[in-house]
Amino acid sequence: MTLDDACGWFDLDAEDTAEVVAAAAQIKADEELSSRLADVVRQLTDHFEELRPWKLLDLPAMFDPVTEPDAPAALRWLYVVAFAEFLPTTLEAHARRGVPESISRATLADVGRHVRIARRLYGVRACIEQDWLQAHLRGLLYDLGRLQFNLAPLELDQADLDDAGVDATPGSVVVETHIPETGPLDPDAVAASLSRVQGFFARCYPELGTIRYATCDSWLLDPQLAGIVPDSNIARFGARYRLFPPARVSDQSALDFVFRAPTTPRVDLPRETRLQRGLLDHLDGGGHIEARYGWLALPKAALSTD
Ligand SMILES: CC(C)(COP(=O)(O)OP(=O)(O)OC[C@H]1O[C@@H](n2cnc3c(N)ncnc32)[C@H](O)[C@@H]1OP(=O)(O)O)[C@@H](O)C(=O)NCCC(=O)NCCS
Repeated sequence: MTLDDACGWFDLDAEDTAEVVAAAAQIKADEELSSRLADVVRQLTDHFEELRPWKLLDLPAMFDPVTEPDAPAALRWLYVVAFAEFLPTTLEAHARRGVPESISRATLADVGRHVRIARRLYGVRACIEQDWLQAHLRGLLYDLGRLQFNLAPLELDQADLDDAGVDATPGSVVVETHIPETGPLDPDAVAASLSRVQGFFARCYPELGTIRYATCDSWLLDPQLAGIVPDSNIARFGARYRLFPPARVSDQSALDFVFRAPTTPRVDLPRETRLQRGLLDHLDGGGHIEARYGWLALPKAALSTD
């Protein structure tokens, strides 16, 4: 597979693709960067499909997008070059498992989505979300319509699961839910996405048995949002999940997802939408937004075509 082909899978535009090709040449000519690249590919290989989605790989930032937006292409794109080198392994596994090509494409296009988000955030052409995107490359995360899901073991005590009424044991495999920024969180689209999960994983990961639960760890599950944006898609989405007790303050995460302007002072943030106004008023009044961890029982597998 050529680098151009890989960038096509990643949904990068022509200008980004040209930078990735230039970055690959720079990396090849630099012993230290070549060995860093080889290390990333080795980590992806060693931990391929390992059911520990996060904080398993050591993928340090190669540059600071705020202070070094003009860092050399080799540093801004090193992770995309590594992902491109590794991509045939991911695609071979998808094919072996019977993952439809449309799902592979939608899943891997998240690379380009995050490259474009980084551009909005910092005005850089770069990949800065390597910790997130490694899960896609390692064959753990899939785009199933409106939502993305990754396989993960439950990391809760039996007592917590029993208290919540979840019929599972610590280590039971569930899917974690993610909400990409792809337009409104339409309830029908959410329901359609959830209804695909069991069938997809039963067909493509039969060794895992039936996946019965989806979890979600997000600022979107803060029940206060139902008061901040009543009668909204966000409120309806949050209501689908039953919450485990832990909550952690997540003001910055909420601000980042709503405004995508990490370097703009709070007073200069726009107040155009109900959520923007409501969130700023809530925080200015001394309130907080909390990331909450919730779960739902997945709809039983339908006779789907995935
Ligand atoms: C989650 C998301 C898809 C919801 O979008 P949505 O379906 O349009 O949201 P709702 O219909 O519930 O919106 C209610 C109000 O909040 C506004 N709103 C929702 N998300 C917004 C956002 N990210 N930025 C600014 N305003 C937003 C809407 O415009 C609406 O206000 P209005 O009535 O004045 O127009 C959207 O917020 C988003 O893309 N977020 C980024 C991804 C994310 O947060 N993922 C979770 C990671 S843990």
